[in-house]
Amino acid sequence: VKKITTHTLRQMKAAGEKISMLTAYDYTMARLLDEAGVDVLLVGDSAANVMAGYETTLPITLDQMIYHAASVVRAAKRSLVVVDLPFGSYQEDARQALHSAVRIMKETGAHGVKLEGGEPVIEAVSRIVSAGIPVMGHLGLTPQSINQFGTYAVRAVEEKEAERLLQDARLLEQAGCFALVLEKIPAALAGQVTTALHIPVIGIGAGRDVDGQVLVVHDMLGMNQAFKPRFLRQYANLQQIIQDAVRHYVTDVKERKFPGEHEQY
Ligand code: KIV
Ligand code: NA
Repeated sequence: VKKITTHTLRQMKAAGEKISMLTAYDYTMARLLDEAGVDVLLVGDSAANVMAGYETTLPITLDQMIYHAASVVRAAKRSLVVVDLPFGSYQEDARQALHSAVRIMKETGAHGVKLEGGEPVIEAVSRIVSAGIPVMGHLGLTPQSINQFGTYAVRAVEEKEAERLLQDARLLEQAGCFALVLEKIPAALAGQVTTALHIPVIGIGAGRDVDGQVLVVHDMLGMNQAFKPRFLRQYANLQQIIQDAVRHYVTDVKERKFPGEHEQY
């Protein structure tokens, strides 16, 4: 199979071919997604929520991200694997950011890293890129700043914040980012950023006028029916499918219907 690279993604933007990205945190799911043709696997720090059950993404550690990322890399035959730098692993200074990014690359075999923010992380981005490590930016509703936002509501609705976002996007491109994620911002602004930049822009809750889409895989598979934000399309109801199967199993065990004659030695 022909592997997806950062170069491939740039060609896709130029050709107008949309980029598909999903999160992955473990080997088995990553194998399914890679075989189904997902272009980019994001080992998101949303693992803190989806895998570990934390309220926010802040608690997950660099070591924990490395464990998830190494599992995903072992499954990825075609997909590009990008790993989130977790909260606290890059904000001190560019040296700390580079050190964390190098650990991810060396210990997991991933193809790039992602970090959140604009102007304050530009030095860190430059330093990581200078070491030959591809960096993906992330603007808009950046969950590592949730305590500052105080809400998961849509970002950059007001003129000033929208202007700052466009400026930050330009800075990230200049600093050498190979792609940019825009989370939960008005579709018109996301379209404006996508036109202004040469690098691919991948949206989540950012409308259709972007170069690609990303969703949290557990959310798009409907594994949590209690979580249904407007931007989320559920492509399956795995909560129903899994719970039906498990209830059936429990009943069979109770009623001595499992194992059967041909399921024993
Ligand atoms: O951690 C994550 O899942 C993400 C995506 C939602 C972009 O950063
Ligand atoms: Na993330």
